[in-house]
Amino acid sequence: MNLQTVTPAPPDVILGLTEAFKKDPRPHKVNLGVGVFMDDAGRTPVLPTVKRAEEHLCRAETTKSYLPIAGLPEYGERVSELVFGARHAVLQAGRVRSAQTPGGTGALRVGAEFLRKFLPSSRVWLSAPTWPNHRGVFTAAGFAATEYPYYNPATRGLNFDRMSEALENVPENDLVVLHVCCHNPTGVDLTDAQWREVAAIAARRRWIPFFDFAYQGFGTGLEADRAGLLPFLETDLPVLVAASFSKNFGLYNERTGALALVAPNATLASAWLTHVRIVVRVLYSNPPAHGAAIVAKILGDAGERAAWEQEVSVMRARIVSIRDALVKGLRRRGAPMDFSFIHAQRGMFSFSGLQEAQVTFLREKKAIYIVGGGRINVAGITTRNVDYLCDSIIEALGEPS
Ligand code: LMR
Repeated sequence: MNLQTVTPAPPDVILGLTEAFKKDPRPHKVNLGVGVFMDDAGRTPVLPTVKRAEEHLCRAETTKSYLPIAGLPEYGERVSELVFGARHAVLQAGRVRSAQTPGGTGALRVGAEFLRKFLPSSRVWLSAPTWPNHRGVFTAAGFAATEYPYYNPATRGLNFDRMSEALENVPENDLVVLHVCCHNPTGVDLTDAQWREVAAIAARRRWIPFFDFAYQGFGTGLEADRAGLLPFLETDLPVLVAASFSKNFGLYNERTGALALVAPNATLASAWLTHVRIVVRVLYSNPPAHGAAIVAKILGDAGERAAWEQEVSVMRARIVSIRDALVKGLRRRGAPMDFSFIHAQRGMFSFSGLQEAQVTFLREKKAIYIVGGGRINVAGITTRNVDYLCDSIIEALGEPS
């Protein structure tokens, strides 16, 4: 291999779709690809709480000097409280350390690099299917990736029996990536009872849970959405959480995330963080300040926090109601399949059941952009485009697949 023979890499399967969408000249185009919340006017707004925090920062900020390697300390504290619950025993026992990271992806990569240093022969287990970048991030950190069963296309639900059977056979110290809520791409989540079973398996088999928590508040609520984590905190297992504030604070381009580590005791938690700092230092030195300062300001102010919680519930309610509009629109048009499973899915994504040929038909003939595999970002559907979308899906279903 040499640089003279380099050929172009394929576009990213999600962000590359946005690039193609932007270039599409058709005025009626619809972007249901990338996971970005849109309001009913098709805009991705800056939340009013975020705007107010920015105005405050603009007045109060006195320096652009470097942050500590692990980020703003008050951000770390507020984020740990949001993720685990302010009064949780793991916080009171000093078992949690957080590092501010560039988005949830940064948190995954920092966590992966940290684990790889101490567990070089472990593998990572990803749900089938999962967010495509999981494989990229963990393999870039040097892990071999494999899959555990998750989604059952026949029931359009969770294949819990096969999932738990596979997790029973994961070797000690391998990593298992779990989506706390609003599974990406399927929208299919575990029940609380199923989470308890998975935590019991992890405790028995001693594998390491690494949670991706990118949609807190978009499922059932900010508190209810963390339920999947809680049984794991009852064990003495290491627990890693990659949190993202792209969606629930709308801070997509501010790259605002955090890696939270839960250790069996406070001494170990501090020791782990020293190694996380080394990982950060060699990757990007220290994190960017702006998004974290916004989140810390909002979460640290009772009034602003209440206003933000309300903003999150408005976003969540819109997603629920547009799911309903989609299901009803398809039913009204006599769709040849029952789409009511879309009601049960949670978060921004819906695994629509559309096949590759139908996804291609929608993009090429209808200017409707959906991720391969049939993942629809329902948060991109509006009252203006839902009829066009339903008509187009009905047409696509009539196409030979
Ligand atoms: C998505 O899945 O669409 C989002 O998480 C955005 C991304 O980075 O892929």
